[in-house]
Amino acid sequence: MAGPSDAVMMIAAVPFFEGLDEKTRKAIAAEGKEVSFKPGEMIVGERGLGVGFYLILDGTAEVRKGGKVLTKLGKGEFFGEMSVIDGQPRSADVVALGDTRCWVLPAWSFSGLIKGHPEVAIPMLKELTKRLRAAQSSPSA
Ligand code: CMP
Repeated sequence: MAGPSDAVMMIAAVPFFEGLDEKTRKAIAAEGKEVSFKPGEMIVGERGLGVGFYLILDGTAEVRKGGKVLTKLGKGEFFGEMSVIDGQPRSADVVALGDTRCWVLPAWSFSGLIKGHPEVAIPMLKELTKRLRAAQSSPSA
């Protein structure tokens, strides 16, 4: 029998899932898929419909809103959670800066992940709190 794919192994190693045992991480990894983006390619567009949660496996993406750069996100960081959580349109553009590989988890799997493994929500909430603090300290953004 073939072993887990490279993508599954790579996702299982992302610190975001560090609270989970290896078997669970691999099972979750298998629910998403790997998607590659070229430099300058828009990964999600502001006001678009949000159907996926993204984790960056490799590369860098820039979050832009109304032509302004809000932040840059790199390997092991996530985006796209806002629309997946509240069903509202995407709050910002997210653009690949270089060749960027993401793992994309469909919205319904994201809900299942949080319900089945609520401990995953802790690092996510910490990161969201960090982003909110950063946004508060630059109120013009
Ligand atoms: P979502 O609204 O689904 O799609 C755009 C994403 O950009 C959003 O989810 C967040 O993941 C991310 N994003 C929006 N605003 C910020 C911000 N101020 N700092 C970091 N990331 C952001």
